[in-house]
Amino acid sequence: MSQIGENLLKATTLLESDELVAIPTETVYGLAANALSDTAVIKIFEAKNRPTFNPLIVHVVDVASISKYAELDPISLQLAEAFMPGPFTLLLPKKPIISDLITAGSSKVAIRVPNQIITTKLLMLLTFPLAAPSANPSGYVSPTTAQHVLDGLKNKVSYILDGGQSEVGLESTIVEVSNKEIILHRTGAVSAEQIEKLTGLKVVVKEHSEKPESAGQMKSHYATKTPLYRGDIAQMIKEYEDKNIAIITFNKVYEGLKKGHQYVLSPNGDLNEAAKHLFEVMRCIDEFQFDVIITELFPDEGLGRAINDRLGRAQEINKL
Ligand code: TXA
Ligand code: MG
Repeated sequence: MSQIGENLLKATTLLESDELVAIPTETVYGLAANALSDTAVIKIFEAKNRPTFNPLIVHVVDVASISKYAELDPISLQLAEAFMPGPFTLLLPKKPIISDLITAGSSKVAIRVPNQIITTKLLMLLTFPLAAPSANPSGYVSPTTAQHVLDGLKNKVSYILDGGQSEVGLESTIVEVSNKEIILHRTGAVSAEQIEKLTGLKVVVKEHSEKPESAGQMKSHYATKTPLYRGDIAQMIKEYEDKNIAIITFNKVYEGLKKGHQYVLSPNGDLNEAAKHLFEVMRCIDEFQFDVIITELFPDEGLGRAINDRLGRAQEINKL
């Protein structure tokens, strides 16, 4: 029987039996388990080969459900009402019902309300929330289609609920309200400007760290198998002329390079479209025998910032 499908009953039954089911969300696909069962949650870490010191996001059906699992201060509530359901995650003080396995021992839990119709239906059918990291082997690029999940986790996931291609294509924005400031742990589709405008509070970007205590900041995240470098593309094409190169650009086409070597994320210069295709393109390039991937800085606005963040981390690993 096919591992990919739209069978909500099957997904529900498996999750109720502590099995893993991959779920579509508007950001990326998640590898889900019953968040209230440690037996189920431990399987997520095993399947992804993810260290247990890296905590998981809890997915709930709506904003009203958040307070079953965490304490909501007034500013976090304001953020939740504005940006959820959507590509937005809040770090909140956890209630005892959330286990230390999910938070990796932290007193805070990350909570998100996904905006994807099938997953909302699934959450409505369940009596528990879903713990779900991105559905990729730890350290690799996040999946934006059901097929990507199958490619990476074939024998490790019981079922993959198919919701088509993820609309946003990059992981959620993660924030934490702290002492009249808002800490941005991970950039995503909800921007710092939107958050500042809504709350009137300053958004402080948490510095990248090699320690897992900071959200979404582990060095080896989002990396392709093919080494990736970012810089002046024209110059780098010359520098790597003896190599088999693939280039990823925002909207520009470079003369003199063969077609199959150029991946233009949005010919019309639309950052949302570029974000939607980025991970798919990174995976696609990894399928071929390229020596290096060359890319550029994207415009520092909207989703361009999140794209720059992910590409920056994909590049980081080459410097180790
Ligand atoms: O868009 C998304 O957020 C996707 C979809 C599936 O919801 N999920 C996702 O999960 O990207 P994951 O595990 O790949 O990334 C979540 C990040 C991790 O870097 C983790 O360290 C951080 O959030 N995180 C989760 N819970 C945390 C906590 N309690 N404290 C600090 N960081 C946390
Ligand atoms: Mg991830």
